Amino acid sequence: MKLLDGIRENARGKGKIIVLPESHDERVLKAAEILIKEGICQVILVGEEDTVKKRANELGIDLNKVNFVFPENYERFEEFAETYYEKRKEKGVTNNEAKKIMKNYTFFAAMLVEKGVADVCVSGADTTTGEVLRAALHIIGTAEGVKTVSSDILIITPNEGKVYSFADCAVLPDPDAEQLADIAISTAETHKRVVGEDPIVAMLSFSTKGSAKHKLVDKVIEATKIVKEKRPDILIDGELQFDAAIVEKVGRKKAPGSEVAGRANVLIFPDLNSGNIGYKIAQRIGKCEAVGPIIQGLAKPMNDLSRGCSVDDIVNVAAILCNMA
Ligand code: ACO
Repeated sequence: MKLLDGIRENARGKGKIIVLPESHDERVLKAAEILIKEGICQVILVGEEDTVKKRANELGIDLNKVNFVFPENYERFEEFAETYYEKRKEKGVTNNEAKKIMKNYTFFAAMLVEKGVADVCVSGADTTTGEVLRAALHIIGTAEGVKTVSSDILIITPNEGKVYSFADCAVLPDPDAEQLADIAISTAETHKRVVGEDPIVAMLSFSTKGSAKHKLVDKVIEATKIVKEKRPDILIDGELQFDAAIVEKVGRKKAPGSEVAGRANVLIFPDLNSGNIGYKIAQRIGKCEAVGPIIQGLAKPMNDLSRGCSVDDIVNVAAILCNMA
C-alpha cells in the first residue's frame, strides 16, 4: 500500500490531464471525482455533459471541475477523422469508416492523447482489452526504437509488501525470442521507473539452466542472450524456474553462481498463457495485490483496466500513468 500512496503523491502537482472515455460507468465517474479531489490530475470525460452530469448528480458524485468532450460536437472532429484515415488508409480504412471509428469513445480518447489535448488515457472498465490495445496501437503507436507493446503487472505480497513485476500477462499471446527480449527490457525499465528499485530479471521456464531440453526452453535461452547483447547494463539470467528465480535456497542449489537466481524482482513469463494464469494465481490464491497491467512500449501512455476493476484500481492506474507521462 505504501508504494501506491507514494505513486499518488508523486503524481500530484504534475498538472497532467487524463482522458477517461467510459463516462457511462459509475466507477469511472467516482474515480474522476477522486482524481480531482486528491489533486492527482485534471480530468476530461468523453460524453454528453448534461446526460453524464445528471447521472452523476443522482449518484451523488461531484463532476464540477471535470471537462467534457463529445466527439460529434468537438470542433476538431473532422481533423481527428482525417488523421485516423491517414494512419490507417493503407490497411483499407475509408474516409467514412474513419469518421465512424472516431465516434467510438475509446478511439477518440486515444486521438486526444495523440494530439496532445490529454497526456494519458485509461479505458477498459467496460471495454475489452483487445479494443483498448487496438485503439492505442492504431492511433498512438510504439515508442521510438520499440517494436513490441507489452505489459507489466505489479504483484505486491500480502505480508512483507515486496513488489514483483510480472510480464507479459496481458498483451502479446505468443512472443518469439526477439519479442520476449523486448518484453524483458521494457519491464526492467518500468520496474525501475514505477517501483524505484534496480531490476533483477529472471527469464522463466519449466527448466533451470539446462535441466530440461525442449524448443520452448530454447526460446527463453535465446531471448536471454538477446537481452544480454542489447542491454549489458541489465542484470538478467535464464532460463530459471519460478522457485529458482525467487527462493534463495532453491536458486543457490539449482543455479549456483547466478547473480539473479533467488533474488529476482522482475519475472518474465515465456508466453501469455503462463503470464496471465501466473499472475491470477498469485492474486487469488497467493492473496497478493495486483496493480496494472501497466501497458509499456507505446509512444504515449494509454492503459487498459480489468473489467472487474474497483474505483481504487482506476485511480491507481491513472496515477501511475501520470507519473509515466
Ligand atoms: N506490439 C506492437 N505492435 C503490435 C502488437 C504488439 N504487442 N500487437 C499487434 N501489433 C501491431 C499489429 O501487427 C498491427 O500492425 P499493422 O497495423 O501495421 O498491421 C497493429 O499493431 C494493430 O494490430 P491489429 O491487427 O488491429 O490487432 P491484432 O489482431 O494484432 O491484436 C491485440 C493486437 C489486440 C493486442 C491482441 O494481441 C490481443 O487481443 N491480445 C490479448 C489481449 C487479451 O485478451 N489479454 C488478456 C486479458 S487482460 C487481463 O487479464 C489483465
